[in-house]
Amino acid sequence: MQKLKDKIRQEGIVLSDQVLKVDSFLNHRIDPALMKEIGQAFARRFSGVRVDLVLTLESSGIAPALMTALELQVPLVFARKQKSLTMKDDLYVETVYSFTKQQESQVAVSRRFLESGTNVLIIDDFLAHGEAAFGMARIVEAAGARTVGIGIVIEKSFQNGYAKLAEAGYRVESLARIASLENGDVRFAD
Ligand code: G4P
Repeated sequence: MQKLKDKIRQEGIVLSDQVLKVDSFLNHRIDPALMKEIGQAFARRFSGVRVDLVLTLESSGIAPALMTALELQVPLVFARKQKSLTMKDDLYVETVYSFTKQQESQVAVSRRFLESGTNVLIIDDFLAHGEAAFGMARIVEAAGARTVGIGIVIEKSFQNGYAKLAEAGYRVESLARIASLENGDVRFAD
């Protein structure tokens, strides 16, 4: 998606060879017009797929996921992150490890909002090692629902998330694919 790539070039800050800061339009301040186009782009890419529900993980996944759900005219559910959970009976819970933040968190979705047989499109802001996407996919599976696709706003193709998800059989569509952040420079994969 050219507009997203331009925005990354103009406003992205390379913090290290591994991390790109995009808090001026995605992770802190949010650009609504860009989010709308991101929603339209995901809707186009998954137009041949039946989607009943969009699932994301709080907090930065919510904006692009909401615009996608609006475009597809389906509900959005965001998985909640919690340090520790006591009341788990009415929740699907998975543990997700973040390599970027070097911490484990539990992600949870209410059983009420994820029925068996639902066709779920997972949307997230970043794909690094795929831990968040796999965690959400495990929740979908636990509910007896189906992951019909995974939409990623920014894929860091030099990390192994895409390869792992593709190998597991998931269809992954990324709107911007970054091949490298070396030497403070953003190099796109395509
Ligand atoms: P993974 O799920 O693909 O394995 O990624 P990882 O654990 O490494 O990512 C954990 C968190 O770090 C996620 O945010 C993810 O969006 C974010 N992240 C990963 N790589 C980058 C990057 O290069 N730049 C930025 N800005 N973020 C990155 P989170 O913990 O879910 O936070 P948030 O959604 O509350 O913002």
